[in-house]
Amino acid sequence: MEILKTRAQLASRLSAFRDADKLIGLVPTMGALHNGHLSLVNEARKHTDIVVCSIFVNPTQFNDPTDLERYPRPIENDIEKLTPLCDVLFMPEVSEMYASGEQWHIDLGRLEYLLEGRFRPGHYQGVTQIVKKLFDAVQPDKAFFGQKDFQQFKIIDSMVKQLHLPVELVMCPIIRESDGLAMSSRNVHLSPAEHQQALALSKTLLFVQQNFENRSIAELNKSALEMLNRSEGVELDYFQICDADTLDVVNEKTSKHVIALLAARVGNTRLIDNIILQ
Ligand code: PAF
Repeated sequence: MEILKTRAQLASRLSAFRDADKLIGLVPTMGALHNGHLSLVNEARKHTDIVVCSIFVNPTQFNDPTDLERYPRPIENDIEKLTPLCDVLFMPEVSEMYASGEQWHIDLGRLEYLLEGRFRPGHYQGVTQIVKKLFDAVQPDKAFFGQKDFQQFKIIDSMVKQLHLPVELVMCPIIRESDGLAMSSRNVHLSPAEHQQALALSKTLLFVQQNFENRSIAELNKSALEMLNRSEGVELDYFQICDADTLDVVNEKTSKHVIALLAARVGNTRLIDNIILQ
């Protein structure tokens, strides 16, 4: 695996692959890699010839400076995990990706303000800003993202369509611990007791999925909120059953695709999770 730190190095390395008609796959990450990330890399390996992974803790998508500061950065471990799986690791400094005072805005419509957008203002502007820069730098044929950040996937998809970017987006399933907790770089912040408390999130989503056929949306919402609100240590930001195409809340089972999404704080750690219902 080659480790490159500048866009110029990346462009010259990748142009040789492109000239040889190799399909390039990109897995953008912020590091602190877990099996969820590695499943994206493995998926990229299956579908493309050259796998590029990026590790960049993107400051513009953090609306909470403490969250940015606390974000785990176990870089030596990450390199060790990627070495057998990846062809190129792109690991730029902040100054390589951003000029000072740089501005960015893209109209993401309602999607930007729903769910995560209500709790993390500006987050998706930061995400689209860096993902566009990574797409420009790598020019991947395919880019791989996790279902855990479902809203992020929809937002990036909207940007790709709006700007006619020549990249195919691939969404990969959520990878869970054996006890059900969705893998996340932030899980390292959970104490063993908080980890146990956080299981209420996946248990609730599983309950909703298992009862989706037999109960109304109102009943499912009521039971899910009861389960989450009575879970010790869990401070809920939202639980919503949504149309998976628009992310609008649904009250009836009339949508073709339906998803339940939630976010909650457990101790000082904010977690998100979701499950596809239909
Ligand atoms: O999902 C993430 O890890 C980040 O939001 C991404 C897509 C790498 C952009 O910084």
